[in-house]
Amino acid sequence: MSSSTVITNIAALVTNDPSLGDSSPLGLIQDAAVVIEGDRVTWTGEASKAPATDNRVDAGGRAVLPGFVDSHSHLVFAGDRTQEFNARMSGRAYSAGGIRTTVAATRAASDAELAANLTHYLAEALRQGTTTFETKSGYGLTVEDEARALRIAAEHTDEVTYLGAHIVSPDYADDPAAYVALVTGEMLDACAPHARWIDVFCEKGAFDGDQARAILTAGKAKGLHPRIHANQLSYGPGVQLAVELDAASADHCTHLTDADVDALANGDTVATLLPGAEFSTRAEWPDARQLLDAGVTVALSTDCNPGSSFTSSVPFCIALAVRDMGMTPDEAVWSATAGGAAALRRTDIGRLAPGARADLTLLDAPSHVHLAYRPGVPLVSGVWRSGVRVV
Ligand code: NIG
Ligand code: FE
Repeated sequence: MSSSTVITNIAALVTNDPSLGDSSPLGLIQDAAVVIEGDRVTWTGEASKAPATDNRVDAGGRAVLPGFVDSHSHLVFAGDRTQEFNARMSGRAYSAGGIRTTVAATRAASDAELAANLTHYLAEALRQGTTTFETKSGYGLTVEDEARALRIAAEHTDEVTYLGAHIVSPDYADDPAAYVALVTGEMLDACAPHARWIDVFCEKGAFDGDQARAILTAGKAKGLHPRIHANQLSYGPGVQLAVELDAASADHCTHLTDADVDALANGDTVATLLPGAEFSTRAEWPDARQLLDAGVTVALSTDCNPGSSFTSSVPFCIALAVRDMGMTPDEAVWSATAGGAAALRRTDIGRLAPGARADLTLLDAPSHVHLAYRPGVPLVSGVWRSGVRVV
């Protein structure tokens, strides 16, 4: 039997299980303890009632929450786009066209360079409390380059997304229909074995609603589950298509009509908000308040990529969501943990109840609220992933 460890003297523990703590969605427990055995949580409750264990870790009167679930990132890439960012901060608008710059750099990079880059940004994310992440292809746009991106990603996570439909490959600029045929044909065949999800950037300048439907439907037929980049730069059909196809998540959701919000409220698709993108493109903020008030499940993720959102920091996104998107600190923390898990249709992560994976973040603060209250401060002082302390 594996040895047991209690993490005790926790001032405030976020369990995301209302039946364990106060009845709020965060299921908060004051003066709490968590017991870990192997890679699982086996007990959560008031410290004074904790069972005897082999090992003891003193949290020092600080806060513990589930590890962050970053359900949307683009981490297989090479190069950066500093010049583009500089131009935007001087007033130039963001457009999907910048993706081509990263496609050229990624195609030119070796497998080892791409893997080293991915490892670097993952380590960065881990230090900031991310214990599960999803990541995508989408900067290769050839059969070989998309498949290798997914192979490299799959060495680090089970949550791998095929995004051959990020933009129409520059090689097919004159024949987008032929590119859609490639994405739904030979490229899908080569990529499906390495991925769990299929995604499409449904936007003017990328793929329209009919193309997006064809791409996601083809992916479903190959056993991939859909998720969509929807309604980021303009109003469009993406969000309602996501609900229609039972996508796990509609991501961005920056420009929503009332009908889009209704569709999300009546479906099983999570709205994943990515405030790093609005920050870095100086775009208007998604209205999280409207979504939450309508009863939509909201996730909060980084969208980490070299173009529209070059941050790996979930705490930064929590602070933005609270300051500028109408979320309370409790809601933002829930969305970055349990919400991310919902966006990946996972029940083993994003919560700290018996049976859950032992992914925990210890903050150098007495409460999870400090994640928004103390923006920009490196508050993460301990991380356990699958029961092993990694930070
Ligand atoms: O989610 N919107 C499409 N894809 C990315 C941006 C990619 C890029 O600019 O390189 C996003 O924001
Ligand atoms: Fe994205």
